[in-house]
Amino acid sequence: MDTAADRPSAIYDRIGMGYSDIRRPDPRLHALISRALGGARTVVNVGAGSGSYEPEEADVIAVDPSQVMLDQHPGAAKVKAGAEALPFKSGSFDAAMAIMTIHHWPDPRRGLRELRRVARRQVVFTWDPAHRPELWLLEEYLPEIRELEYSRFASLDEVADALEAHTVLPFPVPHDFTDGFQIAYWRRPDSYLDPVIRRASSTFAQLPPSVVEPAIARLRADLDSRSWHRRHADLLGRQSMDYGYRLLVGGK
Ligand SMILES: C[S@@+](CC[C@H](N)C(=O)[O-])C[C@H]1O[C@@H](n2cnc3c(N)ncnc32)[C@H](O)[C@@H]1O
Repeated sequence: MDTAADRPSAIYDRIGMGYSDIRRPDPRLHALISRALGGARTVVNVGAGSGSYEPEEADVIAVDPSQVMLDQHPGAAKVKAGAEALPFKSGSFDAAMAIMTIHHWPDPRRGLRELRRVARRQVVFTWDPAHRPELWLLEEYLPEIRELEYSRFASLDEVADALEAHTVLPFPVPHDFTDGFQIAYWRRPDSYLDPVIRRASSTFAQLPPSVVEPAIARLRADLDSRSWHRRHADLLGRQSMDYGYRLLVGGK
């Protein structure tokens, strides 16, 4: 039976409140996305959320199935829809962008085909589940996140293939990355102790407290005893880390 909780937007209808306070667009990722959009004048932002990373100089239409997310989007042109059936004619836009969203789509291949249908160029930012190293949080504290991530992130090859991507760029995550998705705090472990920060990440939101709370208690103990710092002394000196985030570009 199809219930409200099964809808793709359901998770963001639940966790989306306050999203934009924690998920502040990072200027370095913004610059990379702007370059990839290649001066597009008309852009559709699919899975737009609160509108992060949209180019200021273009006409942008935001598409998202979650009303809670669309309500936080400051733009005037907003459409409630899923990526798998975009309500636009073929070739309507110079570019389509999809940033940290395709892992939420029930059928990413179909959604990516829609991006190619409605726009001449496609810019997709996602995570490669085959990339190593993984974030220490998964290896040492919450392997349950790994299972969840692997079940929802398509392989990079699949995404590149569906887009016929001609460009795949790595994005090493800066240590002070401002957009609070899970990876942002790789060098700021205390941040994971904050329930407000955890709430802005859909993985934490999907795991039951009975799984998350004991893991966070162990992390707190390791931070208090500084055993985390001893284990990760190498990370503390790094400015950025490649954890497998990739920008793919297809089309012209
Ligand atoms: C992590 S947020 C990313 C939002 C924004 N792109 C950003 O970079 O901040 C993921 C977004 O994907 C949206 N989403 C979920 N299912 C979707 C679908 N089937 N098609 C398009 N977007 C979807 C969610 O509602 C949410 O706003």
